[in-house]
Amino acid sequence: MAPVSATIRVQRFNPDTDDKPYYDNFDLTPERDTTVLDALHMIKAEQDGSLTFRRSCRHAICGSCAMNVNGHNILVCKTPLQDVLNKNGRVTIRPLPYLPVIKDLVVDRSSFWEQYLRVKPWLIPPEDIPEKEFRVSPEEVTALNNAETCIMCGACYSACQVIGLTKGYIGPHALLKAFLRVKDPRDAASAERLADLAGSDGVYRCHTIFNCIDACPKDLNPTQAIETLRKLAQKRLAYERSRVQRQRSLQNPIVVD
Ligand code: FES
Repeated sequence: MAPVSATIRVQRFNPDTDDKPYYDNFDLTPERDTTVLDALHMIKAEQDGSLTFRRSCRHAICGSCAMNVNGHNILVCKTPLQDVLNKNGRVTIRPLPYLPVIKDLVVDRSSFWEQYLRVKPWLIPPEDIPEKEFRVSPEEVTALNNAETCIMCGACYSACQVIGLTKGYIGPHALLKAFLRVKDPRDAASAERLADLAGSDGVYRCHTIFNCIDACPKDLNPTQAIETLRKLAQKRLAYERSRVQRQRSLQNPIVVD
């Protein structure tokens, strides 16, 4: 049964007018299926139009609504309000940690995207491109599933204590994307990618704290991807040679009996 009323405690901050963040409490009466995002919309529409937050799809696919709720990074559009209310009917919502606040619950994700671009997240194909298509096996496609469904919400990045305590770390989101490209048999830059990832800001900077796994709303496993990249980085030239071999067979037509 939905609670009669709920108190939403929201961290507020406007850098143009406030010296430091503070909290506002908003009381509302939720329905049984009210999500945390719905609650923020209700507050904005009925109580305080200045409340600022990001959202777009409302279906857990665009990644824009990641926030810190009761200390955990989550997508608020897919989280029922009832699931996060304490026994007194209260919930606390903050912006994602470790990122500069633009206003209220909106953070500046510049560093997140800069690190993402740093790993060259696009496919770098071989010079010898097949006339029709690359032939990738179902097993190879399955191996990429862990990385392919990332929605770039930033929940893992801002849950990572290495991001919070040091500067320059590539971060779990970008390393997961790098894993996707390194493991993709169509990509021709695996040795170069692995050499870059083995630098001081790369895979060896991860402390294996697993916060990224806990935070991921898609149940992905960046830590495992980072572990795989560490192993591949140690034998990157041999890996590149096997990749060249594999790419020759990528061009072969499938023979149907
Ligand atoms: S609004 Fe798109 S993921 Fe939540």
